[in-house]
Amino acid sequence: IVDVQEEIDHELISHDQIMAKIKEVAAQVSADYAGKVPLLVCVLKGAVNTLTAFSQAMSIHLEMDFMSLSSYGSGTSTSGHVTVRSDLTTDVRGRDVLIVEDIVDSGVTLSWLVEELKRRGAASVEIFALLEKPARHQVQLDVKYKGFIIPDEFVVGFGLDFDEEYRNLDSIAVLKPEVYEGATA
Ligand code: PRP
Ligand code: MN
Ligand code: MG
Repeated sequence: IVDVQEEIDHELISHDQIMAKIKEVAAQVSADYAGKVPLLVCVLKGAVNTLTAFSQAMSIHLEMDFMSLSSYGSGTSTSGHVTVRSDLTTDVRGRDVLIVEDIVDSGVTLSWLVEELKRRGAASVEIFALLEKPARHQVQLDVKYKGFIIPDEFVVGFGLDFDEEYRNLDSIAVLKPEVYEGATA
């Protein structure tokens, strides 16, 4: 039996820091969307924890829907190809959509999604990304609401996985090198 905590090399962002930042952004978004009912689009699976904390910190009416996208498979770097594993059930035509995402790495996933939502007729499309890794950006992407800028390290926790595990950590952390060994990039 392995204790997950023993696999953590170091913590990058604590749970309290995450929650404080999410509340700050939620206050800003609630003000910006006053009088509107935004549709929060949670990009499964990684954004599920962020969506939960963020939506609970919002003070205006909103709707939420979920889309499961994957560009990573089991490796630690993007495949460059976005797969829709399951789609929204909401018609986004005329809606003010706010995409909620855990991390912008290459930007491939979100640049594809922004264009897709516009093709479907959304009135507006903005992004809240809890984390951003500028060193890895491959495409130009306008992220209106930002959480934390992080260095080019593979992080897990608060929804982010390594090979589907570690999503349940309540902070953002870097695993010990031996845990990542044997991964196909
Ligand atoms: C991860 C992460 C983002 C995306 C960011 O998702 O949650 O959605 O990659 O990478 P990009 O900016 O290079 O596109 P992943 O494909 O691992 O699926 P998951 O959310 O189910 O873990
Ligand atoms: Mn994801
Ligand atoms: Mg992943």
